Amino acid sequence: MDSIIVTGNGPLSGTIPIAGAKNACLTLMPATLLSDEPLTLTNAPRLSDIRTMTALLESLGAEVSTLQGGQVIAMSSHALSSQRADYDIVRKMRASILVLGPLLARFGHAVVSLPGGCAIGARPVDLHLKALEAMGAELELREGYVHAKAPGGLKGGTVEFPFVSVGATENALMAATLAKGTTVLKRAAREPEIVDLAECLRKMGAQIEGDGTDTINVQGVERLHGATHPVVTDRIELGTYMLAPAICGGEVECLGGRIDLLSAFCEKLDAAGISVEETKTGLKVARKNGRIRAVDVETEPFPGFPTDLQAQFMALMCTAEGTSVLEEKIFENRFMHAPELMRMGANIDVHGGHATVTGVERLKGAPVMATDLRASVSLILAGLAAEGETIVNRVYHLDRGYERVEEKLRNVGAKIERVSGA
Ligand code: UD1
Repeated sequence: MDSIIVTGNGPLSGTIPIAGAKNACLTLMPATLLSDEPLTLTNAPRLSDIRTMTALLESLGAEVSTLQGGQVIAMSSHALSSQRADYDIVRKMRASILVLGPLLARFGHAVVSLPGGCAIGARPVDLHLKALEAMGAELELREGYVHAKAPGGLKGGTVEFPFVSVGATENALMAATLAKGTTVLKRAAREPEIVDLAECLRKMGAQIEGDGTDTINVQGVERLHGATHPVVTDRIELGTYMLAPAICGGEVECLGGRIDLLSAFCEKLDAAGISVEETKTGLKVARKNGRIRAVDVETEPFPGFPTDLQAQFMALMCTAEGTSVLEEKIFENRFMHAPELMRMGANIDVHGGHATVTGVERLKGAPVMATDLRASVSLILAGLAAEGETIVNRVYHLDRGYERVEEKLRNVGAKIERVSGA
């Protein structure tokens, strides 16, 4: 298994290009299943999760080709051979459940394995299933698989989510595009990835209003057609790289960055003493003089502070002046990075859904273990600010969500290298 070695090396300077969003791409790809005409995505990120989704679509008989080194994904589902998503692929990635809504909507039946995914809490899919039931689907859980049927096709209905779920909103939105009549999604997720999906579906001929608000209305249509769509900027990759100069000083411009994708996060950076300036090409981030200030954070659905940036923000707070409390409100058990940061000298006390972080003057390099995708990058950020060498083991998690991380950080002056393992 590969490891990444980071050596604290002082201030960073330069530019980092931000890729298309992994999470948007993972819901845009299954949208191909809704139509027999081609769907082409541009600005796609080159990540192992995207390759897993490619393998899943191919296992259903979709044709998927990647062009321009993976930045363009051309898909066609005109001759699907199967409506069954097997455990072998689905277990690798939770987002695989997103094929269920489209398959059921277009074919009236589907069998999809229950997913696995990152080890951050229970993460059931009950909301996905209830939403499809509200559109007339008949579901049965047997031997780890969801067996779904909608003999006369899905019918529009009202889906009121008990709390916000990004994935359930995406599955329901895709299914509703081909359901008969009107579907109303209440307490829908408002994430930029949902708006991106809705924009793509509209290009395919779907009738959707209200995306970006908590109520989405969908008027079902007979069929969807082909389209070409650019994947929205990855706000989590953006926030992660904005934290690099914040944590070890200097000034870095994140190309393609936009404040509206991360407004709550940018407010917290400002409160911590980090300047963020919008430029014509992206966001310029600079650490002001002096030590970082401690800032409290609560994770929330969009437009709140994203849970996917909590681990990275904790790395920043480890060297802040004072004590901060980070509250995780989306996923239980999402502080697995805390003990690893403590191996680097951080002072963190985890109690239930809260972590209290008391800043130390300087972290110290240590061998650490990546436990999930965002945790692994938080350890790299901490390593950038630490004295000496940090060895991050088990970096396969990282490759699920960050393309060319070493190259991007090296280009702004970081000392970072990948060591191939057995
Ligand atoms: C998506 C993102 C993930 C991000 C998360 C929250 C993708 C591929 N992944 O995950 O990176 O961390 O949004 O912003 O886009 N829940 C249920 N039942 C369900 C569905 C969810 O109880 O049927 C719970 C989850 O366990 C969690 C909360 O709802 O506690 C929110 O999860 P959700 O928004 O659905 O996350 P994902 O779509 O899986």
